[in-house]
Order: sequence, then structure tokens, then C-alpha cells
Amino acid sequence: MIDVSAVRNLFPILNQKINNHDLIYLDNGATTQKPNSVTRSIEDYYKKVNSNVHRGAHYLSNLSTEKYEQTREKIKNFIGAKKTCEIILTKGTTDSINLIANTFDSNINEGDEVIISEMEHHSNIVPWQICCDKNKAVLKVVPILNSGEIDFDKFQSLLSKKTKLVSISHVSNVLGTINPIKKIIDLAHKFKAKVFIDGAQAASHIKLDVQKLNVDFYCFSAHKLYGPTGVGVLYGKESILNELEPYQGGGEMIKSVDFNKTTYADLPHKFEAGTPNIAGVVSFSKSIDFLESVGLDNIKSHQEKLLQYATKKLLEIKDVIIYGPKHQKAAIISFNIKNVHPYDVGVLLDKMGIAIRTGHHCAQPLMKKYNIPGTIRLSFAVYNTTKEIDLCIDAIKKSKKMLT
Ligand code: ALA
Repeated sequence: MIDVSAVRNLFPILNQKINNHDLIYLDNGATTQKPNSVTRSIEDYYKKVNSNVHRGAHYLSNLSTEKYEQTREKIKNFIGAKKTCEIILTKGTTDSINLIANTFDSNINEGDEVIISEMEHHSNIVPWQICCDKNKAVLKVVPILNSGEIDFDKFQSLLSKKTKLVSISHVSNVLGTINPIKKIIDLAHKFKAKVFIDGAQAASHIKLDVQKLNVDFYCFSAHKLYGPTGVGVLYGKESILNELEPYQGGGEMIKSVDFNKTTYADLPHKFEAGTPNIAGVVSFSKSIDFLESVGLDNIKSHQEKLLQYATKKLLEIKDVIIYGPKHQKAAIISFNIKNVHPYDVGVLLDKMGIAIRTGHHCAQPLMKKYNIPGTIRLSFAVYNTTKEIDLCIDAIKKSKKMLT
């Protein structure tokens, strides 16, 4: 059980008025709010530690490097990786996907295939399109069923010797679908294809064990785990990462540079050119502490309760259509109201202090599948309450009255 009011006290941003109403923040799929420990850590870092990492021999540089590497170690334990060298620190999920789309492409040749699904975020579509175009490979798309689940039979039929990589989201940012990634990974491996899982919407509430999953690559962003923006994680199996060429060249990623020949640093530094977001990485360690102190299982069950409560309340409103599965679903609800444009609802809710996201949610192909311009999306986090849902439901009813 979570003491939600104690949790809320850690997030001062929640105690403010927006448009003369108490803020109700239900846009957690876009980004989560940050607890005091994270914001304080950023301030402390700049006030007391600021220095570059892996460079100087002086006290502050050593301290900065130590804190930076301690976060890497914490991430390794958080996701059950074998070694810290398998944790590449990036700018975010998009950066992590692009890193692999630009380096793993040495394994993708003319006529080879990459498989994604119809429910992917643009960041798990466009990098693979670019990669396939560049290598004259073919991008295959697994359709989804009307229920919002992957059509597994179709997935199975798309796999072949030509499949070099499968890249699928763990949780859909629009539908909340929790994909059966273990089944996907095991099946893809039978065809010797590697699997990349986009965990942006999963890692904040699903306990990961990348070794048990036997996943080849897994990524997520700190900012959706109550951490800072501009920090991301790319997990990759050491044996695969070692085979890949660097993504970007520059400082930090080299062993030695000569005009005739440059040798690259070992993992993970080979993929971390330039000065990173050190304060962000260091403070991300505090968001992992936060997640672990509340407990991922507690967070999951609290969010499941919110999901069920909100779904029931929404379905009591006439003409509401909810997209996505009924089970195996994360705390994300995408819906529409018959004859009402989602954007108009978003604007009216904002006037009542309620933050939600409307539109295509960076998943235009999914909108096309459902033949809709967009959806109204509520996405819940550890600090949300059923009282907030009641207020949101009232606001949706009011908006509906005004718009129909
Ligand atoms: N991918 C984030 C979302 O779904 C930004 O809102």
C-alpha cells in the first residue's frame, strides 16, 4: 500500500493552482513530475560538485566521475544487467533507438528485414525507416488487432531468416497495451533475430530483469521515471555492443587519437562521446532511490487501481469510446467522445486546471488504424488519486455538455 499523501508531499509542483484550480496532472505518459530529492540533487551537484567526468585528476572531477559511475551501477542493478559496461547513458529513449539504428545497421544488408509494430511511437518507426532506406532493407509492420494487441499470428508469419531485428514497445504510449515481450523475444531468437524493446512507458512501474528476459537491447528515459529530462538508458548485451562501431566521434569515446588511426575506448565509453548531462545522470540516481523506496510493485498496483477506477467512471459517460485492451494494460487511457474533437476537450480541461495530452501522441499510423485524428489521453502516476479522477470525470462531463 502507498501513502499517497506522503508521496505527494515530495512533489511541490502538485500543490499549485493552474487557471485558479488545483493542478491535476494526468499527463504522466509525456513526462512525470520530479520529487524534491531529484531537484535538490541537481542544485547540490552544481553548487558543490560541478566538474567534468573521466577527465581531470583533481578532487571535484574525481567526485563527479564517482557519482556519475555510481548511477550507472544503480541502473545496472535496477534492470538486472550483468555488467555496468552494458549500460550506455544517452539523452533519452529517442537517442537510444537512434544509436542502435545507426550502429546495428552494419548487420543489416540489402533485402534483410526489420520488424516493428503498428502501435509504435514515431521514435520507434522513423529511425528504422532511415536505417532500412540506407541499407536497402525492408521495414515490416506487425498489425494490431482492434483490441489494441499485437496480432501474434501475423508476427509469427513475418519472422524469417531475413529478419535481423525486431523493435517493439514494451507498453504502448497511446493504448497502454503491455506487450508480451518475453514471448516476442523468444520467438524472434528462434530466427536468430535480435530484439530491441522500447521501455519508455514501462520502466517506471514494471520490474525489469534484462537477463531473464534475454533481451538484446532495452531502453528508457529518466524523465518518465520521476527523473530529469535529457538522460536516457540504453542497455545492450556486451557481446553485441562490442561488435558495433561507435555512434558519434569525439572526446571521451577514444583510447588514442592519431591522424592516421584512432582507437576507441572500451564499453560503455565508446558510445558516450562528448560531455554528458552529468547533473542529470547524478540526479537520476535519486529517482531510482525514490522508485525503490516506494516499490515498483506498489506503484504498479496503485496505478492499476487508478486505471480500473477511471475506466469504469469514463464508461459511465454516454458516447465515450476507449481504445486499447481491457487486460494487460498500463495506466494509460486513450478515448474519444462521439462528435467531439479531442483537442477541444484538452483546452477545456486545461481551463479547469487539468493537464492531459490530446492529439496523435506521436503515433500517426496507429491513429490511421482506428481512423481517428487523435485521442484524449489520461496517464496516471504514483501521486495521482481517485479524488483527482472524480474531478477529471466531472470536468469531462462539463466539457461534453459545452461541446455537443
Ligand atoms: N512519448 C511521450 C508521450 O507519449 C512524449 O506523450
